[in-house]
This record gives sequence, C-alpha cells and structure tokens, in this order.
Amino acid sequence: MILKFDYLVIGSGIAGLSFALKAAKAGQVGLLAKRSLTDTNTNLAQGGIAAVLGQDDLLQFHVEDTLASGGGLSHLDTVKTVVEAGPKMIQELLDLGVPFTAQVDHPDQPELGREGGHSHRRIVHAKDMTGQTVQKTLVEKTLAHPNIKVFDHYLALDLLQEKDPRGQMRVTGAWVLNVATGEVCAMIAKATILATGGSGKVYLYTTNPDGASGDGLAMGWRAGADVANLEFVQFHPTCLFHPQLHNFLISEAVRGEGGRLINAEGEPLMKDHPQGDLACRDVVALAIDTEMKRSGADCVFLDITHRPAEFVKDRFPKIYATCLNLGLDITQEPIPVVPAAHYQCGGILVDLNGQTTRPGLYAIGEVAATGLHGANRLASNSLLEALVMADRAATATQTEALTIGYPKLTEPYSPWPGGRLGHAPAEAVLITQSWDEIRRFMWNYVGIVRSDQRLTMAANRLALVKGEIDDFFRIFEVDADLVEVRNIAVVADLIIRCASERRESRGLHFSLTWPNRDDARFKRDTVLTNAEPLLFPGLAA
Ligand code: SIN
Repeated sequence: MILKFDYLVIGSGIAGLSFALKAAKAGQVGLLAKRSLTDTNTNLAQGGIAAVLGQDDLLQFHVEDTLASGGGLSHLDTVKTVVEAGPKMIQELLDLGVPFTAQVDHPDQPELGREGGHSHRRIVHAKDMTGQTVQKTLVEKTLAHPNIKVFDHYLALDLLQEKDPRGQMRVTGAWVLNVATGEVCAMIAKATILATGGSGKVYLYTTNPDGASGDGLAMGWRAGADVANLEFVQFHPTCLFHPQLHNFLISEAVRGEGGRLINAEGEPLMKDHPQGDLACRDVVALAIDTEMKRSGADCVFLDITHRPAEFVKDRFPKIYATCLNLGLDITQEPIPVVPAAHYQCGGILVDLNGQTTRPGLYAIGEVAATGLHGANRLASNSLLEALVMADRAATATQTEALTIGYPKLTEPYSPWPGGRLGHAPAEAVLITQSWDEIRRFMWNYVGIVRSDQRLTMAANRLALVKGEIDDFFRIFEVDADLVEVRNIAVVADLIIRCASERRESRGLHFSLTWPNRDDARFKRDTVLTNAEPLLFPGLAA
C-alpha cells in the first residue's frame, strides 16, 4: 500500500502537532504516532516554556542566559531567533485556548516561574503540568482538523529516497509499520518532518517515556543526514528516587520556588556556587553525582518543607499527589532525588528553517540540533524551541507543498527490504538482553562523568551488541521492540563517537581524561557525516 501526503510528520509531541496544525493550512498532512498521540516527552514536561513577558525582563537577558548555559557553543543567530519569537508563540497558544496558570492580580497575564540559569522570572506554565496541558489542546485541534490524517500506533522504520530531476537524492517519505497488524506500507510526501523527540531510553535511568528511543535521529542518520553535538546529554538533577516509580521528574521549578538540595546529613549541596540551587543543570547534576560518589549514598534530597504547605500543594499539585501516593508528604519531608538522562541537546543538524542536510527532510524539536542549546540546554527553552522551529519549518515547507510534484514512487515498488511478515518473530529475551546491556554500559561509561578508557570500553561492547541487533533485523520479523532497540544502538554509537571526539570538558560533557575546557581546539560543534547512507535498492530513481 502507498499513501500520499504533502507533509509527512513523524511524531506527536509539541513540535509535530504545532507543525501539523500550521502546515495543514497549505496542504494535506499525515501524522504518525508510534503509540498513542499523548505518549510523548512533551506530555511529561512539568516546568514550562521560557519567554520574555515580565516587566523587568528583556530579550537581551534571555539571550545572555541561554548563551551562558550553552558553554560557548550556542549559535547567536539561533538564540536570538528563538528568544525573539517567544512572546508570539505564547500568544498563539493562548489564542488556541491553552489554560496557562494566570497571575492572581492580572488574570489576563500568565504567571511567570523561575528555573535554574534564568536571571529573571520567565517560565510560562500550567502549574506543574505544562506539557500535558499544551499537548491536550494541540491534540484536540489536530483531531478536529480536516486536513490532518492521524495514524496512531504506526511506527516509521526508515526513510524513503529517490532522485529528483537534478539527479540529487531526496527524502520522499518513510516505510511505516502498522504496529497492530505487522504490515509495512510506504507513506510518501513532498516534505518529511522528523519530530520524534529524544533518546533518554539509551540510558538506564531516565525521566523520558518508554518510547524515547531516538527513532528520528537513527532514521535520519541512516538516510545520510549529518548529526551534531550528541555528546551533550542533559541529566536532570532531580528525578524521584523511589523503588516503585523510576522515571518521575521533580521539576526544577521546585528549586525555582525555594527548594534546596541537601545531602543525607542535611548539609546544603550548592552553597559554594554563586547561583546556589539555581545554577545550570550541568553544574547541579555533576555536584550531585560527586556527592553520591563521595558519600556512597543512593540519592540526595530536595527540601521544600520551609515553604507553606498550601503554597506547595497549589503550585505543584502533580508532584505533591504523586509523592503522597507513594507515602511521601513533600510538605513535611525532603524528597529523595537522583540525576537521570533527560534531554538530548544535539541531534540532526538543521538550519534555521529545520532543513537537514538531506533535501526533502526536516527535523524539529528535540531530534534536531539548531545551535540553540550548545553544550547545555537552559531549562524550559526546549518547548519554546519546538514551537519556533515548527513555525519556521511550516513556512519554509509551504513552497514545497504548493510547487513541487509528488514523488514518483508508484506501485509496483520494491517492497520493504528488512525483516517481513512470514519471518520468525525475534525471541523477547534477545531484544531485552541487548537493550539492557546498552543502557547499563551507557549509564556507567558514557554518563555524567566519562573518560577515554570508559568510552573505549563502551565502544567495544556496543560493536558486539550492535552487530547482533543488525543480524536480528535481517532475519526476524520486524516489530516495534526490534525497531526501537536497533535505533537505540545507533544513538548509543553516535553519542560515543561524538564524546570520543571532544577531548576536553565543557557543559554536559565531563571527561576525567580531559578535565579542562579547551577553547582553542574545541569551541566548535562536533559534526558527524555518514559516509555510507542506507539507500534502499530498487527504489524509483
Ligand atoms: C523541569 O520541569 O524541571 C523540566 C523542564 C525542562 O526540562 O526544561
């Protein structure tokens, strides 16, 4: 089966949905979600969206804070573009009906929160459920739109490419697995947009949902798109440490409202840093990791008990209720927390319109490397970036939707060349073993603290496991678990390769072998090019 669209959007977080709603004004959109539409990183985002709306705030301050957080690698043109568009993006969401938390004295204005690395209050939020609130509104609008066809539980496997009239290879859609039936179809489009989010599941501990397996990054890489800065994996300092709940985030906004990090003896952890508990995430996560290794403790603690209980319950209803459910009253006792993989600062290299290095292929949101985050993302800049880049990509791709013809791919076409129906299914134990091995050595060897020796050990182990997974992919029937573990292996490989190239310490990349920052040699992006892109044999050329 072949389905045709003007735009094929892969992913249903804030980037994919807001792109789809804008692009649908110019053409037909096919939108894929590999699970349900709300099973996204966006949906779990608690903190908010950074935008300059405060009376005492200036665009220049937000630009400066973003650059400071980025450790010398953020691109000034990207930072300015994203920051300047912030207020307009918030207004658009308000116009769509997103119920942000309002100021008590000015109910027509959003209340502004504070997070680490921000010099001013500028976090627009919906209590501590910002992502979920925005996602709900966008999903409602998407489902009601006549020009958007939603395919939930459809998983993109790989990108299609064919030669354009000038003889250049162009991305023309994707092979897509119907997860329920196991059938693979081709979805072709004039523009293909990766909005697949991040890859936290490459690590043993993460705040991300189970689906965060870096699918877009892996597909883009296999298709020949350049990638950048994947050594910069952001570890959120405060993931709940509890045996019954592994990936629950305790928002940085808790520290923004006065929460203090303490060790098991009750000593403040961040007392020696000029920004204290509101230092940037790379600094705070490293401080916690150092303390845990020093003391041998399993966790540190985040204490907000000095704030009035009613304030805490009202400002953080989700965190309060979730912890209480586990027997922990955060108004009375400190919260046990540990760092966990949270955000991929690098990704597929794109320009300011979301265009990748492959014609016809765009990337927006966490999957993309725009130059905004540099070596460490500033808190709550990611939902903002997703909105701005979706907006810019929707404008940029309109020309393609309106002026170019459909790709030529017509039946009969070469069928999906990977594992197919009729092959034996992979035994679950093989997939689980590969997945567990990768996640554990990535956590231990390529985590908050790295060294050349650890990176080599990780690379050696990965070469073996990745080879086995590639074999599974050829011989077994393709299913969602196999696709995800194949993608995780690619992401792990790219992170290790980027980390091995950066022989210094900067931002989120801390190396015991190279503990100092080296601007002379490394004040630049780490860019990788795939010399052997996967072009499916037999596609129309
Ligand atoms: C948080 O609420 O701490 C997460 C916000 C973010 O990652 O930007």
